[in-house]
This record gives sequence, structure tokens and C-alpha cells, in this order.
Amino acid sequence: MKSVIIFASTHHGNTKKVAEYMAEGLSADLIDITRDKNPDISAYDLVGFASGIYFNSFHEAIKNFVTHTAFCGNQKVFLAATCGVAYMDYTRGIKKILAQKNVPCVGSFQCQGYDTYGISGKLGGIAKGHPSQQDLEKAKRFAMNLI
Ligand SMILES: Cc1cc2nc3c(=O)[nH]c(=O)nc-3n(C[C@H](O)[C@H](O)[C@H](O)COP(=O)(O)O)c2cc1C
Repeated sequence: MKSVIIFASTHHGNTKKVAEYMAEGLSADLIDITRDKNPDISAYDLVGFASGIYFNSFHEAIKNFVTHTAFCGNQKVFLAATCGVAYMDYTRGIKKILAQKNVPCVGSFQCQGYDTYGISGKLGGIAKGHPSQQDLEKAKRFAMNLI
């Protein structure tokens, strides 16, 4: 199974760390969508989208890509997010877009990531030390269970 993880990680590189661990577990390619805005995913069976959460949502570049890409017939997708405060499932918005396109989402993963945005930054930030080694191992196990 050929896999790729497309990620956006613009705050502290938290999601990049998670994506790297997942990619190791899956032997997947990694693409930073903020550098390569329109990657060709036609050769992949499994496509992961990983993003930091910005204002309750995945990065714009990922939302745009998922919205405008024509997925191939048997491609499967999974989602991963890192967020400051994990009080809700932030993957729901992307799942909705995928469902509208009849693209199967085979799983989602979410963990906290160090957050210094806004006022919290002045107070030392939220979720310092995350993703932790434990978060990263969990992310890798999650990914490996997909194949
Ligand atoms: C502009 C901005 C907005 C954010 N909005 C949220 C939010 O709505 N909910 C949340 O839990 N975390 C929020 N965060 C925290 C990030 O989601 C968190 O730090 C994440 O791990 C960043 O991932 P990255 O380092 O891969 O970019 C925000 C961070 C930034 C910079």
C-alpha cells in the first residue's frame, strides 16, 4: 500500500512531528502543503491529512486541497490534528467535506500541541511539552493500525 501524509504545521512544528512519526510507521511520503500547494496524489492508496488547528479548523491550504481535489476511486483518507485545547473533535469539518465527496475516512487522530498563540503565549503557553513522546508513539501506532 502506497501512502502519503500531507501536512500543514505553521505554529511550532507540532503537527510535523506527529506526521513524521506516522510516516515512519507507514513508510509514507511526506508533503508540506504550505510549500507544495497542489501535490499529485494519484499514485497513493492511502492519503493522510495532518494539520495544526487554527481557529477551530484545519489549515486553509488543506481545506482547499481536500475541497478541490478529485480523489481516485479506491483511495482512502485519514486525518490527524494537533491543538492547544482538545475540547472537541477538530477533524469534523474535513470529515464533512470528504463525506460530501464520497471519500472514505478510515480514521482520525488528535492530540495536543504546544500553543503560544494570543494571550496564552504571554502566560507560558498551553500544552507545553506536547506532542510528548507518548503522543508520538500513539500517533505511530494509530497509523500502523490503518494498514
Ligand atoms: C493562529 C492560531 C490559532 C489557533 N487556534 C486554535 C484553536 O482554535 N483551538 C485549539 O485548540 N488550538 C488552537 N491553536 C493552537 C494550535 O492548534 C496548536 O498549537 C497546534 O499544535 C499547532 O500546530 P503546528 O505547530 O503544527 O502548527 C491555534 C494556534 C494559532 C497559531
